[in-house]
Amino acid sequence: MRPQTSLSLLSTLLLLPIFSLADFTGTAEADGVKFDFKELKQRSAVVVVKEEPSETKKTYTINPNGEIEWEKDVDKANRCADGTQVCLVEWPWHDGKADPAPLHIIPIANAKSSKDSEPEYAILRDSDKKVLGLNVTLHGGEYAYGEEKFKQSAVVEFLCDEKEDGNGDDALKVVGYDRSTLRLEWKTKHACENALKDTPSGSKGSWGFFTWFIVIVFLAVAAYLIFGSWLNYNKYGARGWDLLPHSDTLRDLPYLIKDFLRRAVNTFQGSGGRGGYSAI
Ligand SMILES: *[C@@H]1O[C@H](CO)[C@@H](O)[C@H](O)[C@H]1NC(C)=O
Repeated sequence: MRPQTSLSLLSTLLLLPIFSLADFTGTAEADGVKFDFKELKQRSAVVVVKEEPSETKKTYTINPNGEIEWEKDVDKANRCADGTQVCLVEWPWHDGKADPAPLHIIPIANAKSSKDSEPEYAILRDSDKKVLGLNVTLHGGEYAYGEEKFKQSAVVEFLCDEKEDGNGDDALKVVGYDRSTLRLEWKTKHACENALKDTPSGSKGSWGFFTWFIVIVFLAVAAYLIFGSWLNYNKYGARGWDLLPHSDTLRDLPYLIKDFLRRAVNTFQGSGGRGGYSAI
């Protein structure tokens, strides 16, 4: 069907730019499967490492939609710079009280990626090719432990979990950090293959094919009636009901319907009322 083809072509063209951006802003495509994580909110996972009498609170913060939005009351000196997408702040505590300043502030990934540090996507499938999720690797950070500089990256393993919207308390987990690669695990239904198909099209601002079809038919009928009436008015000097195109047929419509119903009832009752067929 022609209109359907051109509509899907149009929507493909509209979707393309969203999925070909270099920065990770919540959408991704891998192996022909599209993912949309835009409903996931920025979050922090805290890992506490105890070494009596002190302890260290390691706060990993990630915003899947772009750069981290810091609370107003967080001192700029105690957090990653603006433009960071994944940040680790290691803050020592002594005797139940936070030290005056963090020990390490580590930018792990930047929201704006340079050409050589674009996000990488790897789809996760089981042996039956079923989609289990998506690995997103974000780069751009660098940090010096002592003399040695370490390039930083974060591998976020988005795992399909139909029962988890992704913003629950247990959704984000820190798997590990080895001074250069942070591994996160994020359980969410948005990592399931059918996630995009399931969202109602209305909420995306695009109309379904059927809605368009109804609108087009309505406009076509309206245009036909208006143009036909105008023609009848000007050419034949018609007035009143006669203005409508095919006004004869329209006027006969109730009788035609009645006749059709009578014939249908006759056929159904099997009375074989063939005599009735001569009506038209
Ligand atoms: C995805 O990330 C996890 C955790 O970092 C890793 O173990 C796994 O090998 C990665 N898989 C692929 C296909 O990249």
